[in-house]
Amino acid sequence: MLTIAISKGRILKDTLPLLANAGIEPAEDLSKTRKLIVPSVCGEVNLIIIRATDVPTFVEYGAADVGIAGKDVLVEHNSDNLYEPLDLNIARCRLMTAIVTGKKLPAGKIRVASKYISLTEQYFAKQGRQVEIIKLYGSMELAPIVGLADCIVDLVDTGNTLKANGMEPLDLIMDISSRLVINKASMKMKHEKIKTLIKQLEAAVERRR
Ligand code: ATP
Ligand code: PRP
Repeated sequence: MLTIAISKGRILKDTLPLLANAGIEPAEDLSKTRKLIVPSVCGEVNLIIIRATDVPTFVEYGAADVGIAGKDVLVEHNSDNLYEPLDLNIARCRLMTAIVTGKKLPAGKIRVASKYISLTEQYFAKQGRQVEIIKLYGSMELAPIVGLADCIVDLVDTGNTLKANGMEPLDLIMDISSRLVINKASMKMKHEKIKTLIKQLEAAVERRR
């Protein structure tokens, strides 16, 4: 049996057609069921449905053999125990700094709100900027408006969320897309099954281009 960790939320609607192309279809409607483990129709795969940020943890510890997660989440998680063999080219966006429109960052130490603590720390360290990072779990765009932070580090796709909140993107930190990740031990123990899955997903990604 192969266990695949996938996240509810944004990635799901792009993940399901890719998995379907690899012959993996959930036996239940994932948008409706309250079950957290759902078998595939073929009976050879279990899908576990978790939060996007938890995917690397489940795969790292071998609770899932394989997972699908955003590059943002993977870099922030920073695990040595994961292979990342395939860019699935879904949920594409950019990790950026952003600020209230027309404003400039003040000199000296700044406050930055983000859910990406480690990425934010590394980025500003490279810039030689002293920062105080304020950890938030969502709605980062609110922070500069209410005076909680000077700027944010968050994902930008259309830019609509920034615009709607009177903000603008500043600097690109990293291009983001979702990746297939694999537990290193599973790669050895279930080599044939996982190799086949990678090949099928590769073909599905190509077809989608
Ligand atoms: P969690 O539920 O664990 O707190 P989350 O709320 O960030 O995480 P989603 O919003 O479903 O979860 O995002 C999952 C992934 O989708 C992100 O890690 C990122 O890679 C990608 N993503 C997030 N926002 C966008 C966007 N606006 N456009 C494209 N991709 C995005
Ligand atoms: C993500 C991200 C931005 C928004 C960017 O938020 O955190 O807020 O999408 O997309 P846009 O540039 O197309 O507007 P999400 O909707 O996932 O909500 P969250 O911040 O509460 O996780």
